Amino acid sequence: MLYINDMNVYYGSSIHAVKGVSFEVKPGEIVSLIGANGAGKSTILKTVSGLLRSRTGSITFDGKEISGYEAHKIVSMGLAHVPEGRRVFSNLTVEENLEMGAYTLKGNVEEVKKDIFSRFPRLLERRHQIAGTLSGGEQQMLAIGRAMMSRPKLLMLDEPSMGLAPILVEQIFDIIKELHQAGVTILLVEQNARKALEIADRAYVLETGKIVMSGDGKTLSESDDIKKAYLGG
Ligand SMILES: Nc1ncnc2c1ncn2[C@@H]1O[C@H](COP(=O)(O)OP(=O)(O)OP(=O)(O)O)[C@@H](O)[C@H]1O
Ligand SMILES: [Mg+2]
Repeated sequence: MLYINDMNVYYGSSIHAVKGVSFEVKPGEIVSLIGANGAGKSTILKTVSGLLRSRTGSITFDGKEISGYEAHKIVSMGLAHVPEGRRVFSNLTVEENLEMGAYTLKGNVEEVKKDIFSRFPRLLERRHQIAGTLSGGEQQMLAIGRAMMSRPKLLMLDEPSMGLAPILVEQIFDIIKELHQAGVTILLVEQNARKALEIADRAYVLETGKIVMSGDGKTLSESDDIKKAYLGG
């Protein structure tokens, strides 16, 4: 579904944040990308979704070369991105936030909204609440719900569990599993390596802009190197 071949991303002329990265996400998979702070995870997602450009290589989504496409065009093709830090429109209501997520939707907005509300009853309860006053976990749900409003085939999530209490981390991972069961392919970026490997069909490990290891989630979580570096020994 998504092929990334030889991605090289720079900030300015001196910072080489992503160094020749290649990987793929197959239809129906959950693929996790793990790595320390500054490894380049968010940069990769931003480049896939058209917010940054790779200097080399190609990005193929659903059989089409998308590098160079505008971000809104990529969303309309079925690739949605939930950025780091639950960026909701804090002055808009929950419902208005969801509607903003439907800007590329060709189908019926009310119908899709109903579907999202049934998946996220908490958002339904709070549909008229100003998003900036939601709790951290609720804002993360809203950010995911908003991305789902475009009816994506592939959903990219950037650290959805960041800063959440353990019980909410469980809830967010349950939501990811449910979306996956509903047929959405997932590319997940996480610092919570344990949970990210547990949920993943396959995973890639990123260190200072390069993929240094890959494999199925279970095998990686049993590797001594991974245990030492990412799972606390
Ligand atoms: N706008 C920017 N300008 C300059 N350098 C940047 C910019 N954004 C990111 N970088 C640098 O690029 C590298 C990769 O950053 P990126 O945000 O992709 O890492 P990350 O793996 O998502 O880290 P984290 O887990 O902390 O979110 C880092 O060294 C970072 O300092
Ligand atoms: Mg990041």
